[in-house]
Amino acid sequence: MKAYTSETLREMYLNFFKDRGHKVIPSASLIPENDPTVLFTTAGMHPLVPYLLGEKHPAGNRLTDVQKCVRTGDIDDVGDERHCTFFEMLGNWSLGDYFKKEMIPWSYEFLTGENYLGIPSDKIAVTVFGGDETLPKDDEAAELWEKAGIQKENIYFMPRENNWWGPAGTTGPCGTDTEMFVIRKPKCSPTCNPDCNCGAFLEIWNDVFMRFNKTIDGNYEELSQKNVDTGMGLERALCVLNGKSSVYETDLFENAIQTISELTGKTYGESEETTRAFRVLLDHTRTATFMIGDEKGIVPSNTDQGYILRRIIRRAVRFGRKIDLPEGSLAKISKTFVEKYQAVYPELLQNADKIAEELNKEEEKFTKTLQQGLKEFEKCINGLERKNAFMSQKDPNYVAEKVIAGKQAFHLYDTYGFPVEITDEMAKERGYGVDMAGYKTAFEEHQSKSKAGSEQKFACGLADNKEATTKLHTATHLLHAALKKVLSPDVNQKGSNITEERLRFDFNYPQPMTTEQIKAVEDMVNDVIKQDLPVVMREISLEEAKAEGFTGLFESKYGERVKTYTIGDFSKEICGGPHAERTGLLGTFKIQKEQSCASGVRRIKAVLV
Ligand code: ALA
Repeated sequence: MKAYTSETLREMYLNFFKDRGHKVIPSASLIPENDPTVLFTTAGMHPLVPYLLGEKHPAGNRLTDVQKCVRTGDIDDVGDERHCTFFEMLGNWSLGDYFKKEMIPWSYEFLTGENYLGIPSDKIAVTVFGGDETLPKDDEAAELWEKAGIQKENIYFMPRENNWWGPAGTTGPCGTDTEMFVIRKPKCSPTCNPDCNCGAFLEIWNDVFMRFNKTIDGNYEELSQKNVDTGMGLERALCVLNGKSSVYETDLFENAIQTISELTGKTYGESEETTRAFRVLLDHTRTATFMIGDEKGIVPSNTDQGYILRRIIRRAVRFGRKIDLPEGSLAKISKTFVEKYQAVYPELLQNADKIAEELNKEEEKFTKTLQQGLKEFEKCINGLERKNAFMSQKDPNYVAEKVIAGKQAFHLYDTYGFPVEITDEMAKERGYGVDMAGYKTAFEEHQSKSKAGSEQKFACGLADNKEATTKLHTATHLLHAALKKVLSPDVNQKGSNITEERLRFDFNYPQPMTTEQIKAVEDMVNDVIKQDLPVVMREISLEEAKAEGFTGLFESKYGERVKTYTIGDFSKEICGGPHAERTGLLGTFKIQKEQSCASGVRRIKAVLV
């Protein structure tokens, strides 16, 4: 087989589909636009969901791209040969255009063609949907593969758990698929098949034939159009095509490995433990680089995407310590990724300073408490060990306690900044566990105490001016909606603070607003005030709120009921209230200041006069 670099493989893939009538579209953001049910874009098709459901795509009905994706479900497995939390997916789509009889021959051509991947056809195996009580087996796909040139014994009918894909979040388009594998070595037994993990079969590509939409109540509706969605993971494909044993041995990581070696004096591959630490650092630093450098860039925090980012960076710091990585190294490793990827993802270069700054800040913050926290952790383990030794002396039938209490895990989080998943992982390394339910209780108790504290403050400090702050609160919703309409639908609230005199609103936007934009926003808000629209509150479930397109933070618990506020068809937000009854009560809205607040975040101060 030929040798490939990430650059040549991306280009070859996109050109192949361009030559077959596809438009090349840019990668979308890592933060999903239309799917509040997941935190990150998890597949190439994810940003295309509305179009797979029938909306018209401006670029047409044949598309191809390389999409940046994040999947953090297996984060604890990162460190082995193949798990990554960030990956790129090469993909192509038919939006109600071609279907199986075009896609399968194209897949065959790309995999085996002399000018393309050139894999010998007897080294390719495929799986197709084997049928169940709801759908027949996919004989058509199997026949198309055989006709194209795949040997019959290398075509496997498999159950739904293998050959069904999607949806990407909780709801959305999905369907049966056919998966393609490179045969690396002989089968380990006569019953060995592509599902076996002996290493004989390595997956390289997946064609999904999307005919269904999974709805919020768990039903599958037939779509009005038949789509094709394919995905080839770039890292995995490079690894398989170049005959490497690990994704970390592809060109994507070369420079970063070199940098880590220079910083630590250690060599990738010198021992199992060192290699694992290298891989965690490589993966997590790359993921953090893409998250912070994203066009909708996120920063470490204690909720949602920000929490995942924090957890990833802190896990990297912890593994860095195992190979004596000096403080301040993450930004240096990250720089190699910015350089490697900047031609494909120019946002990384645009945000290079911010990436380095946020990494340094978070690394510094955690390093400060890490040492103390590790000591505290040792104390927990030692305490349990002592107790177990003592008790088993007294009672030979005593079952050793191997679980760190939830309160202790919360203390490690609250005081030393150890995300509970990190504590759990450290505990596992020692043969212990964490009482996760107990942790959750401790966490919630703490939250409700601090909430009670802030509500009290509100009642005392602002009771007299309740009316003024209520009006400003409603004005904040109008401002948020107007910013989305005037600047971009991607604008989102990053912070809000209301005193009796003014509102303050922070939102993501990369540059200062122009005078015209400020005026347009003011005019729009004042226009809605003049219309004297009622502010309507409805209490519905979080799922309903999501489905109806309310904006707001979706961090509440599943099944919880939330308050929603609707102002005409102008603004729809999830919010605790309180609000003015009608917009006509607000007076005149005036923006006093528009300024920078943090990198990529603007701040508006406004009043009602
Ligand atoms: N959406 C399909 C996948 O992610 C192609 O495998």
